[in-house]
Amino acid sequence: MNRAGPAASTVLDRVLVLEMVRVTEAAAIAASKLIGRGDETAADQAAVEAMRAALNELPMDGTVVIGEGERDEAPMLFIGEKVGSAQGSGPRIDIALDPLEGTTITAKAGPNALAVLAIAEQGCLLNAPDVYMEKLAIGPGYPQGTIDLARSASDNIRSLAAAKGVEPSEIIACVLDRPRHSELIAELRSLGCGVRLIPDGDVAGVIDTTDPDTGVDVYMGSGGAPEGVLAAAALRCVGGQIQGRLLFRNDDEVARARRWGIDDLERIYALEDMAMGDCIFAATGVTDGSLLDGVHRGKNCITTESIVMRASSGTVRRVCAEHHRWTE
Ligand code: FBP
Repeated sequence: MNRAGPAASTVLDRVLVLEMVRVTEAAAIAASKLIGRGDETAADQAAVEAMRAALNELPMDGTVVIGEGERDEAPMLFIGEKVGSAQGSGPRIDIALDPLEGTTITAKAGPNALAVLAIAEQGCLLNAPDVYMEKLAIGPGYPQGTIDLARSASDNIRSLAAAKGVEPSEIIACVLDRPRHSELIAELRSLGCGVRLIPDGDVAGVIDTTDPDTGVDVYMGSGGAPEGVLAAAALRCVGGQIQGRLLFRNDDEVARARRWGIDDLERIYALEDMAMGDCIFAATGVTDGSLLDGVHRGKNCITTESIVMRASSGTVRRVCAEHHRWTE
């Protein structure tokens, strides 16, 4: 079949597309036992253990490129950790993951916690250090160049509004609710924009720009760089534009970036710099949210909702699963 977009990777076997959902489902179900229990660490730990076990069942030679941290700070799913049951013989795959995107959300039973991962051929995902990233993202259908991190927030809103054919005051921006964003929020409100403040979970915040039902036109502000790469992988599949610029708070963070081969500290990364070629993105809801329903635990059955998408085919699948004999 002739499709526009990235060429299908033969390394990313079609079988892997649906296998990825098993992995995010396992992490989400494990974390769901801790929803609202006030223990972020336990929820994260449960998701990490389950995701690692599920990844290790897959016939691949996988390497974690974005994970829970560097080896000395993360006992499991650390950056560089090898996963998969076919080391040395299976397809070589890079994996960006966040077993629990929204640890605080989960602890407080808030909206939009997800188990997330993205996979691509070796070398196709930006090895982003765990620092902040300034992000700017919009959904599909706009000309390239509609947004540009080098411009001010106001200029980007005006440009987006013109491309959408509305007034700037009709634009809705999604922003993490953080004191560091007070100036940005004031600037957006001075244009009359609606600002949707989210407590956490900017992977879902970015993906919301791709879904007209959410009402979100643009994502703005800083959050984790790893989450930026995961969001970029999702937009590579579903369409849209994202740019990111790493933000460094101290010398240690700069040194961390240099260890990953990043020399240009001011660089603005486009979508294709963060997620190249074919890739697969998968997420399962942990708590109910704008993107997915969370894990629901019935008397005899656990239900999950997941999304899995592939860049080369542009396929987006939603998988609603009933787990009648789940053992934990
Ligand atoms: P965690 O799951 O690691 O807690 O991340 C949640 C999150 O809200 C991300 O979605 C976001 O990128 C980052 O934290 C923002 O960081 P901070 O809470 O320091 O502002």
